[in-house]
Order: sequence, then structure tokens, then C-alpha cells
Amino acid sequence: MQAIQTFDLTKRYGKRAAKSVLAVDRVSFVVEQGQVFGFLGPNGSGKTTTIGMLVGTIKPTGGSFNLFGASGPEGLMAARSRVGATLETPNFYPYMSGRDNLRVAAGVKGVGRPRIEECLELVGLSDRAKHRFKTYSLGMKQRLALAATMLNDPELIILDEPANGLDPQGIREIREIIGILAERGKTIFLSSHLLAEVERTCSHVAIIRKGRIVTSGAVAEVVGEGSAVLLRAEDTDALAGAMEAYPGASSVRRTDEGVIAALESSDLGSVTRYLAGQGVYLSHLAPYRQSLEEVFIDITSGAVDSMTEIAS
Ligand SMILES: Nc1ncnc2c1ncn2[C@@H]1O[C@H](COP(=O)(O)OP(=O)(O)OP(=O)(O)O)[C@@H](O)[C@H]1O
Ligand SMILES: [Mg+2]
Repeated sequence: MQAIQTFDLTKRYGKRAAKSVLAVDRVSFVVEQGQVFGFLGPNGSGKTTTIGMLVGTIKPTGGSFNLFGASGPEGLMAARSRVGATLETPNFYPYMSGRDNLRVAAGVKGVGRPRIEECLELVGLSDRAKHRFKTYSLGMKQRLALAATMLNDPELIILDEPANGLDPQGIREIREIIGILAERGKTIFLSSHLLAEVERTCSHVAIIRKGRIVTSGAVAEVVGEGSAVLLRAEDTDALAGAMEAYPGASSVRRTDEGVIAALESSDLGSVTRYLAGQGVYLSHLAPYRQSLEEVFIDITSGAVDSMTEIAS
């Protein structure tokens, strides 16, 4: 069963063509139930706008989407009772304790006290629950927001940059909570620009750039997509130069280890022959597993940028 499915979902801000911004452009993706799905993209690529449309705060200007297979205003309204979302740190009362803030939120949602304690426990705030919200660190504030999102035990949890601004310890705490929720079978859709974090936390990913999805799928697939190689030769300059000119290389960059090239095909023989033809003889050629970060940079900045870097 699909928790989320979008069909050419589109949002253009502003009516006047000259001033309008096409924030989300025909975006289609599927999030199956039980997935931890990372929605990755640089600043301004349309992540928050997409999430706003899913949770109903932003009206699409084109396309459509389903939540748990339901569509249309009534279907979506019913489906949203199974969805919890944390968009930004909500307006908690600064002078009230974390627990009392949750009681207020629970009152609105019609949730009882035992559930409040469960949610505090889940986010590791039981010990600090009686302290005032204003004394909380940013990490604790984010975790209280997560607790509030979990009050009505949603099946699908939508988080916009849950680890934004947190230090490594805070990021780890969020990662652990997401891990617990995933183990409980929840579907999680989170936006982020923390690539290493998404690679560790998420089972699936979509990469969005300028409002368009550039790739999506299982993290392992997306990472494996560009089959990359690590090359070494005595003359690194000549090697890098030759690889930049190689038509089968989608990106080339130099590292301390040697030259890393993302190849369009995994036919290594043709690379060796090509290089020999250029008078470059390899001392090392091995498959190279790119990190999600490297794939992301290849995709979002394009091969041209990384080549310019090498040339400069
Ligand atoms: N209310 C609005 N009116 C006009 N343009 C907007 C509005 N909200 C967002 N935009 C524009 O839409 C584009 C996408 O913005 P959005 O906030 O969805 O991106 P994002 O991926 O969430 O970025 P960030 O990583 O900075 O949070 C940007 O060009 C932004 O300036
Ligand atoms: Mg955003």
C-alpha cells in the first residue's frame, strides 16, 4: 500500500507570469508504507512547498496526490487523521513545562495522559518534562515537537528538516527516534539536506533540484546508479585531463586518492583502451562506491561544475 503517491504535483507561487515562481514542477514519486523516505534537495529546491501541499497548508496549482490511496478533499481529510507532521518548531508556551505543553496539544487532539507519557519517553524527555519549555535546548525543542506529532499515533510521519540546526549529539537523538518509529512500522517522510544523515537513516530517497525530481529509489540503487571508478596514473594531471575529455564520464574529480570518475557504463575495458590511446597508463583502476553526498553533488550541480573545479 502506498502511503504517499504524487502525480505531476506542481506549485507556482504568484499569478502574474512575470513574477511567479515555479517552486514544484510536475513532481511524481511513491512512498510505500513502512519506508523511511528522504526528500533531499538544496535550499529553495521545493521541499517545504511539497510538504505543505501534502499536509494541506499549500494548495497545488497542478497535478494531484493520494494519501493512503485516498484523493479529493474529503478523501484527503480522512487520510490526514492518520498523518502527523512537524513543519517547524510549533508555538509552544515558553513558561509552561514540556509536559504541560503536550497536555495542551493532547487536549486539542483528544488524547489521554498515558499517551503523553509514552511520547515523552519516546523522545527521551521524561526526565525533563517538568521543566519550562524556554529552558530547553534546540534539540529538546525539536524532540518535544516530535512528541507532539506522535500524540495521536500517526501511521505516516512527515518531518521538514527534523535535524536542522542541531549538533551531532542532537542529530543522533533524532536519528535514534526515527529508528524506533521505523521499527514500529511507521512510514516516515523527511526532508533534509544532511546527506550523510539521510544515507544512514533512510531506506529510500528522492532528490529534488529546482522543483524537479532528478532521481529517486532505494538508497542503495541511487548510490549505485553512477558506477564510479578510482583511477591512478603517474601523471595525475594528464589522467584528469584525459578523463574530462572522455565522453563516457558524467563527472570527474580529483582527490588525494586519485581521480574519481562517474561512468555512464561499467565497461572498464573501454576506459583503459581510451586512456592508453591518450598515452596515459593506469597504475590503479578499481570500482569506487560513491557516497550519497557525492551522487547528490554530481546530480545537483552537474558534471560541468565539477569539471570546472578540476580545471581551475
Ligand atoms: N510563499 C511563497 N511565495 C513565493 N515564493 C515562494 C514562497 N514560498 C517559497 N517560495 C519559493 O519557492 C521555491 C521553493 O521554496 P521551498 O521553501 O519549498 O524550498 P526548500 O527546498 O524547502 O528550501 P530550504 O532548504 O531553504 O528550506 C523558492 O524559490 C522559494 O523562494
Ligand atoms: Mg524548506
